[in-house]
Amino acid sequence: MTDPGERLRSSLAADQSSAAASGVGDWDSPIAMEALRATRVLHAADQEPFPAPGRIRVITIANQKGGVGKTTSTVNLGVALALYGLRTLVIDLDPQGNTSTALGVEHTVGTPSVYDALVGDRTLSEVVHPTTASPNLLCVPATIDLAGAEIELVSVVAREHRLRRAIEAHIHGLPADQRPHYVLIDCPPSLGLLTLNALVAGDEVLIPIQCEYYALEGLGQLLSNIDLVRAHLNPGITVRTILLTMYDGRTKLADQVADEVRKHFGDLVLTAVIPRNVRVSEAPGYGQSVLTYDPGSRGSTSYVEAARELAQRGATLGQSDRPGAPGPPGSSPAGALAVTEDGAVPARGTSRTQESQ
Ligand SMILES: Nc1ncnc2c1ncn2[C@@H]1O[C@H](COP(=O)(O)OP(=O)(O)OP(=O)(O)O)[C@@H](O)[C@H]1O
Ligand SMILES: [Mg+2]
Repeated sequence: MTDPGERLRSSLAADQSSAAASGVGDWDSPIAMEALRATRVLHAADQEPFPAPGRIRVITIANQKGGVGKTTSTVNLGVALALYGLRTLVIDLDPQGNTSTALGVEHTVGTPSVYDALVGDRTLSEVVHPTTASPNLLCVPATIDLAGAEIELVSVVAREHRLRRAIEAHIHGLPADQRPHYVLIDCPPSLGLLTLNALVAGDEVLIPIQCEYYALEGLGQLLSNIDLVRAHLNPGITVRTILLTMYDGRTKLADQVADEVRKHFGDLVLTAVIPRNVRVSEAPGYGQSVLTYDPGSRGSTSYVEAARELAQRGATLGQSDRPGAPGPPGSSPAGALAVTEDGAVPARGTSRTQESQ
């Protein structure tokens, strides 16, 4: 398996040689290196931007096991994508509202939230909030009202499709050059109606797996639920990414879990691994992502690497990568969302050729 320490060392070696080449003094000290890494993250806008995906990627971050890093990954991947130039919309679908907290977005009762779009008749555009992390990053917060949604939705028509329809209407209503490249949906730790809505709304699933004992427990149930959703509700949904979280290099167990996951899921597992890092867990207390709270920390740089990999994989995705989404010959598959060469994102069902005519 890829040793995250080795990854970090090679990135440091690259930093050191570029520092030496630029004639900057003694970069051997850990503090200087951390400062250099922090500068890179903080000045992400000056770095090469991440490549835009071939179509809008709606990624559902799910694992019904609690505390595995769903929220932390949604927040930090979202901030990294946004800092590196990609328009990103994060949707908090967990009544705990942790994503909203970590992004510093108001989510007290009464705040326009995802509940109003799911159960009420507000559009998503009416409940989107800006974030301080980046102008590229918007957030739909969750308030505690969402706790009742599981029950309230039961009697609603097309209850499993509410979020998908809200996202589609939102995207259609935006000019092409303002549409998000990425939509990340943070799920609660359950397989109820909220997670079902997220699986119907998404094109792909990202599963964070904590490098701990029992990490794989319950995964079979999640995967068979995804199969059921694919068979009955959303033919396009597929597990495209696995992210190893809270890796503790001091324990053999973390390596064993990581090996096991890689054996099982192969290329779906990102090479970047998120280490257990105290700065990651401190950041939400300040209403921040770790990238803005402590940009030079290992937690921050590993989330940047994971987001970079996600974006690089996304750049090669074509519209035909939505399995089971048929479309008329010569057009994009139904529901596919494309990105034009200038970074604008046409709505679902509009092919590149149609757009450029
Ligand atoms: N890489 C990390 N290093 C240290 N702590 C972490 C890391 N990732 C997450 N944590 C901490 O672990 C806890 C659980 O993480 P998080 O809330 O992201 O999980 P979750 O899957 O969203 O949980 P839930 O199922 O309750 O929604 C949080 O306190 C978080 O700050
Ligand atoms: Mg969470």
